[in-house]
Amino acid sequence: MNGMETLRDIVLIVHLVGFAVLFGAWVVEVFNGKRGITRVMHWGLAIAAVAGLALAAPWGIEGDLNYAKIGTKLVILIVIGALLGIGAGRQRKTGSVPPAVFWSIGILTLANASIAVIW
Ligand code: HEM
Repeated sequence: MNGMETLRDIVLIVHLVGFAVLFGAWVVEVFNGKRGITRVMHWGLAIAAVAGLALAAPWGIEGDLNYAKIGTKLVILIVIGALLGIGAGRQRKTGSVPPAVFWSIGILTLANASIAVIW
């Protein structure tokens, strides 16, 4: 076991924690019926983004990185971030999030996890 490999494994686990925090916070809002945007979602997205960008850097140990896949995930993450911002703004002004915005956040998060695993 080499130190850089272990460090990168830790960053991958942090990346998965970010995904879990974002998706878990969203699932809570599905089941509590509020269908709102929460601060925990923003934290999850930020954690997944920082760790994902770190994983996308050349570590010299990761084999061939699939940059088309990584770029697609980055675009989707930016869209999720925009939807979180738009949804939070609407929530502040009107008290609720447009359903299309709320559902898209969960679907796009799952889409990114699916792309990560399947592509
Ligand atoms: C909501 C957004 C995201 C979700 C749900 C997500 C989900 C995942 C999951 C489930 C994995 C583990 C499966 C695998 O290793 O193939 C993974 C790995 C990875 N993610 Fe993400 N990801 C997100 C955003 C990003 C972003 C923005 C980047 C980079 C710009 C990124 C870069 C990577 C890389 C490079 C790996 C592979 C690590 C490795 O095994 O070497 N991810 N992601």
